[in-house]
Amino acid sequence: MKQWLFISLLAIVSHIALAAGDVETGRQLAMQGNNQGATACVACHGANGEGNASAGFPRLTGLNAEYLAKQLRDYRAGSRTNPTMNPIAAALDAAASRDVAAYYASLDPAGDASKGKESAAGRTLALRGDWDNTIPACVSCHGPGGRGVDPAFPALAGQHASYIKMQLQAWRDGKRRNDANDLMKVVAERMSEEQIQAVADYFAAAPVQPDAGADQ
Ligand code: HEC
Ligand code: HEC
Repeated sequence: MKQWLFISLLAIVSHIALAAGDVETGRQLAMQGNNQGATACVACHGANGEGNASAGFPRLTGLNAEYLAKQLRDYRAGSRTNPTMNPIAAALDAAASRDVAAYYASLDPAGDASKGKESAAGRTLALRGDWDNTIPACVSCHGPGGRGVDPAFPALAGQHASYIKMQLQAWRDGKRRNDANDLMKVVAERMSEEQIQAVADYFAAAPVQPDAGADQ
């Protein structure tokens, strides 16, 4: 019995040690890439992880470290496919993924003006859903104002509209398949093209939550 307890404690402690990435090592990777073939993240995701609205490069700040590390793992495993990110994630091992995730989660996402257009239809869908078409309110999973619910439900507030739209289309078309229990697939499949655009505009214009991702 005592031995069992010891082993469980050891497992818990080593899990914690594994889970925490090193922010400084992650920063270097983000700035410089690595010699396994990962390009510097800043080239696309911006000097401060703010992404790029016109290119559709997502904002990485405001997202939780565990969520970010999961995405890198999913790109490596192929349950999330993207011709740009698959080879970059393949050049990161699990430790490097955790480090760079910890770095982006440590940055303050506030102060970066969002670029979306106001959308009344998007607001209704986000806050109340569309029950005629069995679409739940986005905030029921993604938290009030789309601030995110750590670690499983990513923040949407302040994410670029172009990127949000691409992700909803990817789920609808079966190209992103990394959501537990198909939670997002079921939502995206029921949305019209107009609803996708409207809700993407709404969340892009929503204020980024200053403490989003900070609890990692
Ligand atoms: C050449 C441009 C480019 C570079 C360099 C790049 N990325 Fe990306 N990244 C993208 C694009 C485009 C996407 C969206 C892909 C998709 O639709 O799945 C993306 C998506 C991501 C996501 C998913 C974000 C989310 O909200 O789910 C993560 C995490 C990520 N990149 C991390 C990194 C890291 C870490 C590096 C550096 C080691 C990096 N990227 C380098 C272009 C790039
Ligand atoms: C039943 C819960 C649930 C509901 C409702 C829901 N989502 Fe999600 N959503 C998720 C989960 C879980 C993920 C993360 C999947 C993963 O692990 O990659 C996600 C991820 C996303 C992403 C990807 C973010 C990124 O950084 O890549 C977008 C965009 C998104 N959801 C938009 C929406 C919109 C818009 C709505 C409302 C129309 C909505 N979601 C409703 C559960 C939900």
